[in-house]
Amino acid sequence: MTTLIFATNNQHKIDEIKSVIGNKFNIITLVEAGIDIDIPEPYDTIEANANEKSNFIFNLTQKDCFGEDTGLEIEILNGEPGVLSARYAGEEKGHQKNIEKVLNKLQGTVNRNAQFKTIISLVINGKQYMFEGICKGKIIEEQRGKDGFGYDPIFVPDGDTKTFAQMSLDEKNIYSHRRKATDKLIGFLQNIS
Ligand code: IMP
Repeated sequence: MTTLIFATNNQHKIDEIKSVIGNKFNIITLVEAGIDIDIPEPYDTIEANANEKSNFIFNLTQKDCFGEDTGLEIEILNGEPGVLSARYAGEEKGHQKNIEKVLNKLQGTVNRNAQFKTIISLVINGKQYMFEGICKGKIIEEQRGKDGFGYDPIFVPDGDTKTFAQMSLDEKNIYSHRRKATDKLIGFLQNIS
């Protein structure tokens, strides 16, 4: 079976991606691979940071691996916070502060359109490939729900009335950017194996 190291320390991302991949492939986390490292995100695009994560772990291990980078892109803020999503309100990467900054910036605005964009970057057999997943929706005016992570309490995907933070993992997977990118990854791996 194909084995891939997933270049992240984010347990939410691990849970979400494993719930989509199931037992089709063997996913090893950084902790399971014995790698204790915070991979840098030095670039100004989601694509470049996703590639950096898979490159970084491939250079370290010479093993097949993938990384992912995700951003929340808000239409009226010209795509902010985008690549800065994790540290929008400062380097300490506090979800609550990031949410408050977004809500403050959108105070009084009618256009609440936003999307999550995930890029998965795979390195397999020494070659790099990218897979994109987009989920369109709206930023609501208050926080709702306790599940999920990041901006989930203020994001309602198109086609639903609940925020991601009010959904189970399976419900979030109906709409999620990460699930869509992961589906493309699975399709690609099934074609080459
Ligand atoms: P990164 O991909 O680890 O750089 O994460 C970027 C930031 O985007 C995270 O810290 C979260 O705040 C946010 N984020 C990423 N994925 C999601 C998601 O599925 N829901 C809500 N917020 C997310």
